[in-house]
Amino acid sequence: MQRARRPTPTRVRLAGRALNATIARAPWLWPVLRAPMQRFFDGSARGWDERTGAGSVDHLAPLAAAVTRVPNHPERVLDIGTGTGEAALFLAREYPRAGVRGVDISEEMIRAARTKVGLDPEGRIAFKRADAAALPYADESFDLVAQLNMPPFFAEIARVLRPAGHAIVASSWGEATPFYTPAAVLERGFRRRGIEPIATDRAGAGSYWVGRLAAPG
Ligand SMILES: C[S@@+](CC[C@H](N)C(=O)[O-])C[C@H]1O[C@@H](n2cnc3c(N)ncnc32)[C@H](O)[C@@H]1O
Repeated sequence: MQRARRPTPTRVRLAGRALNATIARAPWLWPVLRAPMQRFFDGSARGWDERTGAGSVDHLAPLAAAVTRVPNHPERVLDIGTGTGEAALFLAREYPRAGVRGVDISEEMIRAARTKVGLDPEGRIAFKRADAAALPYADESFDLVAQLNMPPFFAEIARVLRPAGHAIVASSWGEATPFYTPAAVLERGFRRRGIEPIATDRAGAGSYWVGRLAAPG
């Protein structure tokens, strides 16, 4: 179903951009921001899809374009800041043999995401409340780590990626997305952790960045 998105109020967009820039450049400030962020998204979960157009073609277009730049089919996929789970569900459809995990700091968002899984006897898709700053996964757990409209926690993404794994950071509405990170900031943050850029582009109203973790040898 195509959902119409309501425009983001300017004050929300500006606050989101400021928060996003702080997390990307000064992640040590995250402990101060965590509780208000969680409260805000717990309070936003009800009616999120209808208000934001989550799950619509516009919402998913940059993620859909980004996966075409990932050369191999991943077996283990993580969606960080999954919200109501639409990006994780898209990735599960895109990679029908992959195990897909979606994490979010908001219990209410996770509750909404879980209602969408339906019958999944093999437990292929699962949602869990977790903080992107301290992911509950062992090192090298995923072949693909994606995030849509979510600030980047570079160190944790690099830690849970397998060697030669891919990272995707996508924004549904490009610079107009509250949690938007410019490509130059992504490149700097990821390069420091051994993730080299392989593609960045616009898609629909949004944009994406794809990187690859170096493989040993
Ligand atoms: C703008 S919403 C995007 C949700 C979803 N990806 C989408 O595009 O509809 C950002 C999401 O990131 C989550 N989030 C923010 N900081 C987080 C963190 N440190 N760890 C996990 N989730 C976080 C919020 O709770 C919220 O659900």
